[in-house]
Amino acid sequence: SPHPLRAVRGEFVHFLADPAAYGDNALEHFVDGVLVVRDGHVAELGPAAAVLTKLPAGTPLTDYRGKLILPGFIDTHIHYAQTDIIASHGEQLLTWLEKYTFPAEARFADPAHAAEVAAFFCDELLKNGTTTALAFATVHPASVDALFTAAQRRRMRLIAGKVLMDRHCPDFLRDTAARGAAESKALIERWHGRDRLLYALTPRFAPTSTPEQMRLAGRLFAEHPGVYLQSHVAENRAEADWVARLYPEARSYLGVYDRFGQLGARAVFAHCLWLDDADRRRIADTGTAISFCPTANLFLGSGLFDLGRARALGIRVGLGTDIGAGTSFSMLQTLSEAYKVLQLSGQTLSAASAFHLATLGGAHSLYLDGRIGNFLPGKEADFVVLDPRATPLLARRSAGCTTLGERLFVLMMLGDDRAVAATHVLGEVTWQRPE
Ligand code: GUN
Ligand code: ZN
Repeated sequence: SPHPLRAVRGEFVHFLADPAAYGDNALEHFVDGVLVVRDGHVAELGPAAAVLTKLPAGTPLTDYRGKLILPGFIDTHIHYAQTDIIASHGEQLLTWLEKYTFPAEARFADPAHAAEVAAFFCDELLKNGTTTALAFATVHPASVDALFTAAQRRRMRLIAGKVLMDRHCPDFLRDTAARGAAESKALIERWHGRDRLLYALTPRFAPTSTPEQMRLAGRLFAEHPGVYLQSHVAENRAEADWVARLYPEARSYLGVYDRFGQLGARAVFAHCLWLDDADRRRIADTGTAISFCPTANLFLGSGLFDLGRARALGIRVGLGTDIGAGTSFSMLQTLSEAYKVLQLSGQTLSAASAFHLATLGGAHSLYLDGRIGNFLPGKEADFVVLDPRATPLLARRSAGCTTLGERLFVLMMLGDDRAVAATHVLGEVTWQRPE
């Protein structure tokens, strides 16, 4: 729009800190609020009565009263190339990879296929209120180009990278240590820091990389400050046993990544189910983040993530859908499953903690909390507009709620993409639910 300002009115909730540490003081709530956006960034959020009086005449104002507006959701672990194998029956991790994942990823040798899936994938994220994601592409460099191109067109924040995989996989998906490193370096130069896009070195997991490939990935991570590294660790017990055989000298599965310089700020490891406290301390001390992927952990029968222990040790934790082992693009559904995972281990997740994980907590885990995650002035104005009356059941159950905590909890337990009335990226509407 030609006007540099735009304003949005509705009920706002966002976090200034972690409710696990700061309780109710962590959250800011405006029952009738106005968010002012200037050039895609937050100018101000405050009570409507105060903000509207000083809004320059002619500022476009979108009225979302009756809806709940939160910062855009942040998905810290997802595979775009697995969009078409979501809901594939019957296997645990290693056979699931062989039977479904590798054949699906092979199709990304075709750039036209990659472009078509990337467009669908980005639209699906936005329609679920997710405005930032940390994503795996495939081993093919052009699959990364396709994903970044699709995200760039939608002005999303996206961190992604080419899978590094030079052993224990089909020939048609295998790179080499040298070629994988050279292709990663070229992709960093092409994409990292362009618009809102950032690069992540992406060794799939320790079993599918030779020690030489692991060494080169760690070296690239050290040589490119600001670049991310994403992988998987300690998801499944058969996987962990395999790693122990492949790397007999390592103290633990996590120790493999550590030895190759792959822990640290901007390193994000999915799952982390079968760790000990020495591993957790190492994760905390290095500033490494964990992506908690409850729907995938339940779907593959992998195990239950110990969020309480991670929190107690001060580990950065974000939330991941882990499509296609995960079963929903919806962060609301992912929060619902996170709550149930914690129930099974005698822990709990408040609605405030849940929505913090999906917004500011995720941003903090990615070292992006200076740019996204809440509505402080200067932040990128990405937000999701949730409809507490999206379905007859949601409307009925929401009507019985008295506190904000109850209303948020109902939304995360019963909500999904139907509850997303609109999604804004850099202030502008990027998804609007059909009436
Ligand atoms: N471990 C190695 N690759 C994968 C993958 O694609 N999905 C999941 N869930 N775990 C993995
Ligand atoms: Zn994964």
